[in-house]
Amino acid sequence: MNEQQIKQVQASYELVRARSKQFSSLFYQRLFELDPALMDLFKGDLDSQQTKLLHTVEAVVSTLDQLEPAIPTIHELGRRHLGYGVKPEHYSIAGAAWMWALDRVLGDDCTMEVKLAWTAAFCALAGIMLDGTKQPAQPVLQP
Ligand code: HEM
Repeated sequence: MNEQQIKQVQASYELVRARSKQFSSLFYQRLFELDPALMDLFKGDLDSQQTKLLHTVEAVVSTLDQLEPAIPTIHELGRRHLGYGVKPEHYSIAGAAWMWALDRVLGDDCTMEVKLAWTAAFCALAGIMLDGTKQPAQPVLQP
């Protein structure tokens, strides 16, 4: 991702945050429309899952320009996803649902550049999570 894309993601995330409930319900609605079988993977309460997802994305978005220190935590998140039954191909379905929800929440602010920037951010995050599944677990140091 280039510097401008990072700024675009961070600026548009402010709008997503302001409409986070709408964003997450659209995201899960679309995810389950694209692949209803994915519903079986979610055992817990979807409300708290939505909050956790957005907190993680928020943390990643705020550190996009300095992602390096967050990599071990994102690897660990990817490894936990293996345990939830998430397969590599599910990431592209989630990416499509993510972009669909983003388009609806941002409306006219979802320009082609913003879409490209978010696609790059989602791919970077998913890529780091998937890398984590190929490596043995490391202790994660919390500040
Ligand atoms: C960028 C990609 C993703 C991010 C940032 C993300 C983030 C999270 C977070 C923060 C949690 C809370 C639990 C934890 O921290 O371990 C979680 C749980 C979960 N995620 Fe994801 N996730 C991503 C991709 C996916 C994909 C592609 C799927 C499959 C469709 C998925 C399915 C699940 C499931 C099944 C749970 C457990 C929920 C439960 O048991 O109720 N996630 N995810």
